[in-house]
Amino acid sequence: MTEIAPSILAADFARLGEAVAAVERGGASIIHVDVMDGHFVPNITMGLPVVRSLARATRLPLDAHLMIAEPARYAVRFVEAGARMVSVHIEADAHLHRTVTEIKRNGALAGVAINPATPLNALEEILPYADYIVLMSVNPGFSGQRFIPTTMDKLRRLRRMIVERGLTTRIEVDGGIELDNVAEVAAAGAQIVVAATAVFGADDPEQAVRQLRSAVVQWV
Ligand code: DX5
Ligand code: ZN
Repeated sequence: MTEIAPSILAADFARLGEAVAAVERGGASIIHVDVMDGHFVPNITMGLPVVRSLARATRLPLDAHLMIAEPARYAVRFVEAGARMVSVHIEADAHLHRTVTEIKRNGALAGVAINPATPLNALEEILPYADYIVLMSVNPGFSGQRFIPTTMDKLRRLRRMIVERGLTTRIEVDGGIELDNVAEVAAAGAQIVVAATAVFGADDPEQAVRQLRSAVVQWV
């Protein structure tokens, strides 16, 4: 079944422990942590100390999405801080194969994130090495943006690329996911969906996760 990965980006940062506990009760299976540096993307969010604290606060795997320049300098440090999944943007790293290999060698799953304007053929060589692809359905930097509709076609093409190559790479779709589109995204091949606003913008985040889960359940 498609897993729901709430992004704490839209949570109350003064109450992150409670936020994570609530979505865990709702059936979230991954916690998505959006790391931004004000260089690769025009926003600054959180870093290693937050991952360290969250790793003590939850048993769910932490998925660090590094939207930072020079991610190779920090990727392994996020693994050491407690992230069990770490993704790096293909646009940010000239030595992505080395970074992905290092993440895996240190015991975490390695993800490759790809922006809306970056063509899928940029993934050609790295695909066999990536544990998961983070297909961006908004331009990274902020929560609360609208899902870019052409992502649906890109998602289907990515699914086909993976199947045709006989790979087991998982697809995570990130940005603009809500109750209205989550089933379609799951049906098109997303095994993980990230949601910030749809979860933490709701009155009851626990219930919001439950609703997202039941929307994708038909695509088991
Ligand atoms: C965007 C981040 C996303 C973001 C999603 O830069 O990578 O993970 O938090 O937020 P929503 O679900 O509100 O689009
Ligand atoms: Zn993200």
